[in-house]
Amino acid sequence: MMRLLVTGGAGFIGSNFVHHVLSHTDHEVTVLDKLTYAGNLASLEGLPADRFRFVKGDIADAGLVDELFAGVDAVVHYAAESHNDNSLDDPRPFLDTNIIGTYTLLEAARKHEVRFHHISTDEVYGDLELDDPERFTETTPYNPSSPYSSTKAGSDLLVRAWVRSFGVQATISNCSNNYGPYQHVEKFIPRQITNVIRGIRPKLYGKGENVRDWIHADDHSSAVLTILDKGQIGQTYLIGADGEKDNKTVVELILTLMGQAPDAYDHVTDRTGHDLRYAIDSTRLREELGWTPQYADFEAGLAATIDWYRNNEPWWAPTKDGVEAFYATKGH
Ligand code: NAD
Ligand code: DAU
Repeated sequence: MMRLLVTGGAGFIGSNFVHHVLSHTDHEVTVLDKLTYAGNLASLEGLPADRFRFVKGDIADAGLVDELFAGVDAVVHYAAESHNDNSLDDPRPFLDTNIIGTYTLLEAARKHEVRFHHISTDEVYGDLELDDPERFTETTPYNPSSPYSSTKAGSDLLVRAWVRSFGVQATISNCSNNYGPYQHVEKFIPRQITNVIRGIRPKLYGKGENVRDWIHADDHSSAVLTILDKGQIGQTYLIGADGEKDNKTVVELILTLMGQAPDAYDHVTDRTGHDLRYAIDSTRLREELGWTPQYADFEAGLAATIDWYRNNEPWWAPTKDGVEAFYATKGH
């Protein structure tokens, strides 16, 4: 049994991780989350009260962080500003949370000698050509494109420096695009599903040729637990499930699964600096730590995700209009 502190546990992937941990282990979980626009306490309903506690606060609040680190065995750090489009609109919160917030946690990990796992993204590696036979590996050079991905890259480098300079017991994972329940409707898949539910045509940036390497959030959670359990300190692990799809294919599949014509979508203004393709080689995680993803069938996972949004409209409805109004100002 471990006492875990999960930062950002009221967000999409963090909340999926908390549900996964509490149903697959006997660990105790404390969530530290600021409840920004992206955090939602409703994502943490139904958890066992004797093993779960929620603390509202900022990861950059050194006093609060110091107090919380004193009572745990390990920290899993999900909290971040996570959306590329927002980072193009207003980069500052990305620096505050992703850089200063991570620095604050690392200083506490150093003081309390607490095991630390840092959640990061494949976007730190930049993008690949559509026909490039190579995929990202742990040795691919960093080459981030957006304010979001550059702050994530910066946070990864801080973790590496705190391992080497101060002996912090940390690991890092860089995962590809997640899908599943509890994802904010600003993101691609939930935006299009909720558009269809609302009778709005899905919106594809540019030509829709950009490729993302999709993984179910529950597979991300099992990978993180595996790294916490068996990962080598100082090591980086790439997490991916061989799920490359271009955006046009994903939109057409959503429309088909929801009983609409597959071409009933609009092309809209492209994202500035839009990364073309991400692709993960997760051989190290699979061969060295024995991890295997469980959601091999993207279409089945997507159908279950569509059902979740159909059945949980009260969870997403309060944010939908604001998101669409923001996108309209950007031509998206
Ligand atoms: P999200 O935006 O859904 O959730 C982020 C959570 O962090 C929210 O609950 C928010 O309230 C909280 N938060 C933000 N700033 C905070 C602060 N200063 N202090 C405390 N809490 C704060 O994000 P997500 O999609 O769940 O991503 C979680 C992590 O996974 C991020 O680090 C992201 O970079 C990484 N990641 C995401 C994906 C993806 O596909 N979404 C893929 C790979 C890696
Ligand atoms: O690769 C991991 C990253 O995946 C994470 O680090 C980020 O936190 C996460 O947000 C995600 O980043 P993306 O920018 O890839 O995700 P997003 O859902 O914003 O967009 C996915 C693709 O869909 C991207 O090519 C842009 C496109 N898109 C997005 C929206 C919102 C559209 O075509 N239409 C849309 O309406």
